[in-house]
Amino acid sequence: MTAEGKNEKFWSGRFVQPPHQLFEQLNASIGFDWRLAPYDLQGSVAHARMLSDIGVITNEEFEEIDRGLTEIMGEIAKGDFAFNISDEDIHTAVEKRLAGLIGAPAAKLHTARSRNDQVATAFCLYVRDQIGQHLTDVVVLLESLLKQAEPGMAVILPGYTHLQRAQPVLLAHHLLAYFEMFARDYLRLSQAFTSTQVSPLGAGALAGVNYPVNRDQVAAELGFQRPGFNSMDDVSSRDFAIDYMGAASMLGMHLSRLAAELINWSSEEFGFVEISDTFTSGSSIMPQKKNPDACELIRAKAARVAANQQGLMSIMSGLPLAYNKDMQEDKNYVFDTSDILLLTVPVMAEIVATLDFNSSRMWRAADESFALATDVADYLVGKGMAFRDAHRVAGQLVRKCIDQKRALSSMTADDLKPLAAEFGDDYQEVINIEASVERKNSYGGTSPVQVAGQLAKARERLEDMRTALAELEG
Ligand code: ARG
Repeated sequence: MTAEGKNEKFWSGRFVQPPHQLFEQLNASIGFDWRLAPYDLQGSVAHARMLSDIGVITNEEFEEIDRGLTEIMGEIAKGDFAFNISDEDIHTAVEKRLAGLIGAPAAKLHTARSRNDQVATAFCLYVRDQIGQHLTDVVVLLESLLKQAEPGMAVILPGYTHLQRAQPVLLAHHLLAYFEMFARDYLRLSQAFTSTQVSPLGAGALAGVNYPVNRDQVAAELGFQRPGFNSMDDVSSRDFAIDYMGAASMLGMHLSRLAAELINWSSEEFGFVEISDTFTSGSSIMPQKKNPDACELIRAKAARVAANQQGLMSIMSGLPLAYNKDMQEDKNYVFDTSDILLLTVPVMAEIVATLDFNSSRMWRAADESFALATDVADYLVGKGMAFRDAHRVAGQLVRKCIDQKRALSSMTADDLKPLAAEFGDDYQEVINIEASVERKNSYGGTSPVQVAGQLAKARERLEDMRTALAELEG
């Protein structure tokens, strides 16, 4: 009986007993690696074409194989393809179906190839596609941040440290901090993309193959930059997937931080922003509730994205060369990570685009606080005091305000002079949050001049990313 038989394994030749039904369950990856089908088919077409070009199979055989693989592609797209646990994995399932469709030539497809280089190739192509999509999505998110940052040039809020009001900042400055994080994510994803540029196909099981395969041709057809230099590394490396999940973890963490910020800001306590109804939900018992569920879920999913990277890292650590079946467990981590990011990045972009900021509430929060205490200290430095002394005096002034339940702006010469003779009539000019923001004119600071510069630069950088992305896709 040939391996086309329903339950026959391609590798059954040296076995006397069939696999235990429980082992079959354990061994099968078809339940999840069916997602690699389009990439497996792509790899097979390129491999078969090359085999015919070097004369290992005839051109007619290649055409039969190509026709069969195209038909399978259509069956999978339509949902007509039967995935069977006895097929073990997607690679076997496709080959068996091919045999059913075209007969004898199918048995030649696996010449000069192993499932080890086959799976590494399909998986790498899958990761590359996901990264391409994430890059596009991150650009949209960056655009949303810039669109909100523009009107945010005219909005002041308290910046926080330790979640305590610290110093007034421009809303644009705050949002552009997230632009920086996601711009770095773009860069890291691009670097991970580079890791997917090396083709494992043609490495065989581990040692190379007994045929004069043209690995350059196969690599080029599949859109890789080059074949791998070392066949043992080619079949046993999952660095491209770990690089991807590393970039993904950082992106997930940044999304989580932004989500957390929005959760705080949309609370009644802050009241800085309203998240669109379309990304919030209500309570089954409390009619007044508007909960930031989308942000909470994005905040939480960062944990899974980071855990996925750790999961694959742990599988790979300690594995000797070359391929080990442990590596079949690589896929779910990556699938889970990409599923999460394919959803959370566009959701966050849309949340940001539809945020409704309450600028007067932000302004008041900055104005009513002691966020100008540092400016008072710097004012005294301007009068000749050493900063440490000035800091102490400004601290005493804050203490006095707290004790008397007064604001810094209500302090008169009579209140101030006992603390330091340096206080003058120009004190009131210091107690002004617009002026405070303007004074932060150091490079990268929150002054309108600096932030306008950041914004202009961010626009340019976004354009560069768009150009790079178009090149990548083209
Ligand atoms: N399903 C396997 C995987 O995902 C394919 C490679 C199997 N290779 C082997 N020699 N058993 O890793």
